[in-house]
Amino acid sequence: MRIRKKKWVDEELEKCGFLIKNPEEHIGNWKSIFNNEKPIYLELGCGKGGFGSKFGIQNLDENLICIDEAKAMLGLAKRKIEKEYSEHNQEINNICIVLYDIERIFQIFNENDKIERIYINFCNPWPRGKHKKRRLTHSRQLEQYKKFLVQGGEIFFKTDDDELFEESLDYFNETGFKIIEKTYDLHNYISETSRENIVTEHEKMFSDQGIKIKFLRAVL
Ligand SMILES: C[S@@+](CC[C@H](N)C(=O)[O-])C[C@H]1O[C@@H](n2cnc3c(N)ncnc32)[C@H](O)[C@@H]1O
Repeated sequence: MRIRKKKWVDEELEKCGFLIKNPEEHIGNWKSIFNNEKPIYLELGCGKGGFGSKFGIQNLDENLICIDEAKAMLGLAKRKIEKEYSEHNQEINNICIVLYDIERIFQIFNENDKIERIYINFCNPWPRGKHKKRRLTHSRQLEQYKKFLVQGGEIFFKTDDDELFEESLDYFNETGFKIIEKTYDLHNYISETSRENIVTEHEKMFSDQGIKIKFLRAVL
């Protein structure tokens, strides 16, 4: 998604206490950012922060690191997190944001980080042949995630895109993940199972257009 440059972003991010400025310096030591023993989860391509802000406030016993490469997006995520936490009168201490290209994620996490879960919500579909490698669910990416996900760690993946979903099923299978949950109509599945779901900005946009949301949960 293209987003216009915002004047306030640089200044606000500079002052933001929960933006991790030099993420490479924390490789193998992310636990010290949160200073607790609670599980650490990642959200890859967090966009405007609708998911992360709600997840964080609803799951205070878990830590979440929200990553995006677009500064303007991260600025909006920062504001959304602040708003959500202040409405709940809650200190921001179980969530942080990181400006980084996820294609190089191996430079900021390793096996000592013991990441327990990854959320990938509506990543770019990259439909054209040679660009598919850039998908955040591509086998090349999944191999990177395996380096810091714990055994039994999970990836939750949602998308509107049929082809991306089908091909991602292959990526997960060929990299040794086991798909333990899968649906081609998440919202119907949720109403039948009373499973929890935080609707992201893109999820709302696509489901408002009548597009069914595809979802899978894969375990390492
Ligand atoms: C389609 S948006 C989805 C945003 C949000 N997850 C949602 O569901 O509304 C994809 C997001 O992933 C980010 N993104 C795409 N490729 C990325 C990469 N290689 N590294 C970091 N962020 C990336 C984009 O900047 C954008 O914010």
